[in-house]
Amino acid sequence: MSQLQIPLDPTRTGADATSLHHALHGMVVGQDEAVDQIVDVYQMHLAGMSDPGRPIANLLLLGPTGSGKTRTVEALAEALVNNPQAVIKIDCGEFQHSHEIAKLIGSPPGYLGHRETHAALNQRELDKYHTDNVQVSFVLFDEIEKASDALWNLLLGILDKGVLTLGDNSRVDFSRCMIFMTSNIGAAEMEAIATPKLGFDARLANVKSDKIDEKLTRKLAKTGEDAARRRFTPEFINRIDKLVVFKPLDEPELRRVLDIELTNVQKRILHSPLEKPFVFNVTDPAKSFLLAQGTDRRYGARHLKRAIERLLVRPLSNLIASDQVSSGDLIQVDFNEDARSLSFTRKAEGLGVTGMARILRKGIDISSMYSEAAAYFRQASIP
Ligand SMILES: Nc1ncnc2c1ncn2[C@@H]1O[C@H](COP(=O)(O)OP(=O)(O)OP(=O)(O)O)[C@@H](O)[C@H]1O
Ligand SMILES: [Mg+2]
Repeated sequence: MSQLQIPLDPTRTGADATSLHHALHGMVVGQDEAVDQIVDVYQMHLAGMSDPGRPIANLLLLGPTGSGKTRTVEALAEALVNNPQAVIKIDCGEFQHSHEIAKLIGSPPGYLGHRETHAALNQRELDKYHTDNVQVSFVLFDEIEKASDALWNLLLGILDKGVLTLGDNSRVDFSRCMIFMTSNIGAAEMEAIATPKLGFDARLANVKSDKIDEKLTRKLAKTGEDAARRRFTPEFINRIDKLVVFKPLDEPELRRVLDIELTNVQKRILHSPLEKPFVFNVTDPAKSFLLAQGTDRRYGARHLKRAIERLLVRPLSNLIASDQVSSGDLIQVDFNEDARSLSFTRKAEGLGVTGMARILRKGIDISSMYSEAAAYFRQASIP
């Protein structure tokens, strides 16, 4: 055997992980470290290197409200099984009493005085979103700090052994699950660190060099970790594979979230059962107005989404319901300085599918859009 000396590159990821990386970065804004950590875990699973007899990964997601924790899990499901709803969500605050726990695991058979309750967390429910290519389930325990002791014990068992025993003594296998747990603990401290103070820090923050960003990321991670260690028991912390810290979103990130959300509104119009497809274009001043109305660091992107619903979606719905827009229209959404509100103007009408497609350019999934448009997009191979 000849002696080889071929250098290998352990930082290169496989094709599936690379495409997941791209997909998640397109959907989740400003949380690069969080996305990278999740892709890492998935890559380990694909390579068959996850710990057997446990869930694929136990991830604790920390960070302020509206920073994208839930969205990231939904985006993962969207990227892997093509369905953002394919996430089994357990709102820990809703399972405070033992009879509520029975909703999850079912009641023991013949348990006198109790109506028989079927387990919501059964194997079929867990596996129902598996596809031919991806047999992974995404389970999200939201707001774990609100979990009762009974739920907490149940969770510890899942995290440790990847198994849940139901009320009727049957077992549910969680070894093909990625378990996400979210909590807002430490969020206020993280917020305080990330908010630039007046003076030197503020000037530094404006410079926003990579070095400062890196330092801030490390500081936020440390703050999150300390808060988690203070709040949760060591036996819980030891079962966590990765602690993923989400940062508060700043203006540049919210601007990108705005663009994603505007695209989503356009998709809603194109997918609407009314089949009254039209396109809209939001001018830069109108975007700035939406952003100004939708920026509140306390609520992150949640506040922005509410502003979009109130200032854009609601008026557009009125225009549709009162027949002021028709199929093939181009509606311009601009900012009216005097009224300090958005204005809506029809800029073109009778546009065919081709015309609308040109305006939309690309990036909209038209798979279930109304048939004529879908045919056109397919023929023109626009994604
Ligand atoms: N980083 C982000 N990238 C893209 N969209 C985001 C991001 N953060 C929030 N959003 C948008 O805001 C919405 C609310 O965010 P999300 O539900 O993910 O917040 P959260 O961090 O889970 O907050 P909470 O702690 O209140 O549950 C999302 O559905 C998404 O549309
Ligand atoms: Mg959430």
